[in-house]
Amino acid sequence: MPTTANAPRKILVTSALPYANGSIHLGHLLEYIQTDIWVRFQKSRGNACHYVCADDAHGTAIMLRAEMEGITSEQLIERVSKEHQADFARFGVAFDNYHSTHSEENRIHSERIYTALRDAGHIATRDIEQMYDPVKGLFLADRFIKGTCPKCKTPDQYGDNCEACGATYTPAELIDPVSAISGATPEVRSSTHYFFKLPDFAEFLKGWVHPGHVQPQIANKLQEWFESGLNEWDISRDAPYFGFEIPDAPGKYFYVWLDAPIGYLASFQNLCDREGIDFDSYWKKDSEAEIYHFIGKDIVYFHALFWPAMLEGAGLRTPSGVNCHGFVTVNGAKMSKSRGTFIKAETYAEYLNPEYLRYYFAAKLTSGVDDLDLNLEDFAYRVNADLVGKVVNIASRCAGFIKKLGDGKLADSCAEPELVARFVAAGEAIADDYEAREFGRAMRKIMELADEANTYIADKEPWVLAKQQGREQEVLDICSVGIDLFRQLMVYLAPVVPKMARDAQAFLNLDSLDWQSRHAALNGHVINKFKPLMTRIERDKIDQMIEASKEDLAEEKKLKETAKGPLADNPIADEIGFDDFTKVDLRIVRIAKAEYVEGADKLLKLTLDLGGETRTVFSGIRSAYAPEALEGHLTVMVANLAPRKMRFGVSEGMVLAAGDGNGIYLLEPHSGAEPGQRVT
Ligand code: MSP
Ligand code: ZN
Repeated sequence: MPTTANAPRKILVTSALPYANGSIHLGHLLEYIQTDIWVRFQKSRGNACHYVCADDAHGTAIMLRAEMEGITSEQLIERVSKEHQADFARFGVAFDNYHSTHSEENRIHSERIYTALRDAGHIATRDIEQMYDPVKGLFLADRFIKGTCPKCKTPDQYGDNCEACGATYTPAELIDPVSAISGATPEVRSSTHYFFKLPDFAEFLKGWVHPGHVQPQIANKLQEWFESGLNEWDISRDAPYFGFEIPDAPGKYFYVWLDAPIGYLASFQNLCDREGIDFDSYWKKDSEAEIYHFIGKDIVYFHALFWPAMLEGAGLRTPSGVNCHGFVTVNGAKMSKSRGTFIKAETYAEYLNPEYLRYYFAAKLTSGVDDLDLNLEDFAYRVNADLVGKVVNIASRCAGFIKKLGDGKLADSCAEPELVARFVAAGEAIADDYEAREFGRAMRKIMELADEANTYIADKEPWVLAKQQGREQEVLDICSVGIDLFRQLMVYLAPVVPKMARDAQAFLNLDSLDWQSRHAALNGHVINKFKPLMTRIERDKIDQMIEASKEDLAEEKKLKETAKGPLADNPIADEIGFDDFTKVDLRIVRIAKAEYVEGADKLLKLTLDLGGETRTVFSGIRSAYAPEALEGHLTVMVANLAPRKMRFGVSEGMVLAAGDGNGIYLLEPHSGAEPGQRVT
């Protein structure tokens, strides 16, 4: 907590470690942007604040994903780490260190913490029975088992609950269970597992959640968990597993969630070793440093129960706070791949300025755990009205006159000392809001100031005065005040829009936009030429981003379809009746025309002749065929597939091709078949 105003605080901040098997999307970004804003604010205030993160690189999902792509787990996590870091950099998320849970530091800390827990008697072992895939040689987590619901008999349900009737059950109760990985019938097998005895820490945890370490809503949730009783936690997995082998337990691996939070220590250790920071002064029991974890509400159990208990049990200090946020929805609904609202960071950045999103999230963030809706209408309106319409406007209205009448030099004395003083003073309340993670409240205060600044300029009408003889000094005075007010606003906004702030700083020709810097007067200060600091959001860019996100989905599907490994949708699909088959209207077609699609490196645009009727189909076969080689050939299409809107147009069906990751082979009928004929 903030102590005396002058003593810099020592603060370590983390965001949750993203899984190394998927891309960063706008949902993730809420967390990294929220954390980054808070960290930048702390740095602006002169505190010693370190922000660390890492990829969460272990576990079955990552192992299987790598297999699906035909690469090693190490190759996968190496590539994804680069992608993640590039995404974070695009969005101005400035970690002081980005590491990996698959690192030497993490192995050492994991072993140390595990050994300490074991030696203190907090680890138990016991045999448990579990579903085992005899083909793949793998114990199966519930989500890798499918079968018919024992209650309502709906086929193809996952191992622990039924999507049709909502029943929950154990995989053993499923009718005709199969491994979702190999399609084999799983067997029940027994093996020894290692457990962390969480109940040993019940009393400790009840005390820990109390004094403001978590938000009130989270404390309530924890209370419910305490009341329903804490269970021992299964922290081991059998080989094959991508992770760390448990010391003195060959063939047993730490469950990914055991070494994931320890990854916070590992990343910080890596930073300390590089920069000579004293690791122990942060993590020893009586440390005065502050440690905050920013997380989403789905992983509270791990961070507010297991994690403090593990630290306590291993003789380390516990976090000062676990700061939880809600989930991002888009246009009022869960992010959806088919609606194109499951938007990857990279896709967003292709179309829109990342700082728009940073501002919008900031404007809507509170210290609570409510979900945050990214309404794309409101997003465009808000950013345009606030950042462009209000803030940039102040500078652009004043800069020209300063250049013209003062040759870039501001007035020698301030014409409105009280107004400027009020803007400076407002910084204290705004700082309190930032500190409390009430970013929305901070943004409202800043925009009220921006309104005031604009009103001041509008009332003074420097552009009218500028046309009158002998009033140049007045114009210069007014615009100099305007520039100073703009400077104050940029100090307050800098944690949210760092790139815009950097550009503003260059324009203002200032050494710093830190919180403290706002007290220095700008009398007689020379500024640089004004360049537009931010442009308006264009609606069609948003539409293009949505279309491109739909294409991302199509590519992901294609990968699964053509992949070789176990997660490929390759095992023979579930049996269907003849009626099901006849629902698919397969037709012989002649490829009348095939063309490249500008901007799409995987697609060809095909014009298909169905014997009278013509269809346009976009097909991901560009890597295998030159357009001219296809024209005139016959192939087979699904003629009654619902049309799909893509970025380049509507695709009215699909053509059939075989593929296994090594090539793509379009189906072609024997000669004599005629366009339009039905395939049965
Ligand atoms: N690997 C674990 C975290 C381990 S931390 C020791 C994990 N990874 S994740 O990639 O699934 O999520 C990373 C963070 O992003 C989590 O805090 C999660 O809550 C957050 N979010 C993921 N999707 C989100 C939204 N749609 N909205 C907001 N936050 C979301 O969990
Ligand atoms: Zn059911």
